[in-house]
Amino acid sequence: MLVESNEVASHAQGELPIQPDRLASRLAYKSKRPTAARVINRAERLRKHDEEITRRPEFDHSDTPIEVTKSPNSPWEYGQGVRMKSPGIDQAHKEIDPYAANRQKTDNYHLLISGIAPRPIGFISTQSGDGKTKNLAPFSYFQVVDHDPPLFIVGIGPKSGQGKDTLRNLKQSGECVINTVSESMIEAVNATSIDAPYGVSEWELSGLHEAPSTTVSPSRVQESVFSIEGKVVDIKEFPEYAKPGMAPTAVVFIKASRFWIREDAANENYSHIYLDKLRPLGQLGGMAYGRITSTFDVPRKTWEDEVTKNDILRNFTSRNGAKVGNQV
Ligand SMILES: Cc1cc2nc3c(=O)[nH]c(=O)nc-3n(C[C@H](O)[C@H](O)[C@H](O)COP(=O)(O)O)c2cc1C
Repeated sequence: MLVESNEVASHAQGELPIQPDRLASRLAYKSKRPTAARVINRAERLRKHDEEITRRPEFDHSDTPIEVTKSPNSPWEYGQGVRMKSPGIDQAHKEIDPYAANRQKTDNYHLLISGIAPRPIGFISTQSGDGKTKNLAPFSYFQVVDHDPPLFIVGIGPKSGQGKDTLRNLKQSGECVINTVSESMIEAVNATSIDAPYGVSEWELSGLHEAPSTTVSPSRVQESVFSIEGKVVDIKEFPEYAKPGMAPTAVVFIKASRFWIREDAANENYSHIYLDKLRPLGQLGGMAYGRITSTFDVPRKTWEDEVTKNDILRNFTSRNGAKVGNQV
């Protein structure tokens, strides 16, 4: 089916499932004229999607405080595993070879974005080496991987020609700003993911505001609670998986050079950002995002403290012939 094959091409570029605004834009400027069947099918999907949205409840803007509850199995004791209802325990697991001949890449894409969730969104601002072109795009193959030094990774999917603008700019300039995405920003952030031609400013089309950076050239996003100026430390590409004519998938390592934290959103020494100010979104499978409305704490413990006061741990250690205390 035409639409399906087009969808496969989009996913192969590491993009989200086709979203209504992206569909519309693609229809407008794609150089390959879409066939009539494809246009009708896309229009139908757009119509259905719009129709469904009208039936959904409004977004809750009430700023209800984030609820803090007990943890799921509280109180929990060593060795208890999952004490509360565990629906998975009797279920069989299916083994999947991600590289099997009959396995579509899009199956892996949908599996991973729905199964590795929620993912934070790194909203990345870059500019070209000559400083003439600015770019802004969201990435959820993104994570902080250490704090000393503050290190981040971003996975950038393949794309025809010279690849995604973000990667192209990161290679040319070696600089970026990683901005956080709060609930209120999501439509504007999503708009920047449009596959705009190189040179089109996503700042303008999103309506987000530029704020100056100090250690790198790209601007940071004023609306973001937390922005991280960063320099590229390494880029690892995977050309063996790229189709002919496509720029390969890349993983970019970025080291922070500056933090910017909204003053009302952090404690006095800027070592903690308040969740109810950040209001972060997690990217889920398909086109879904999750809000954080409820949390719980699970304190981390040390062996040394625990073994002296917990009989179960003491029994474990004596059964295994280990000594009690910090010599273990
Ligand atoms: C929330 C969100 C997360 C995304 N995550 C990724 C990602 O991790 N990797 C990727 O290659 N594309 C991702 N995309 C798609 C890119 O944002 C999209 O391809 C964009 O056009 C790239 O922009 P650029 O060519 O200006 O760099 C994501 C899109 C959205 C809306």
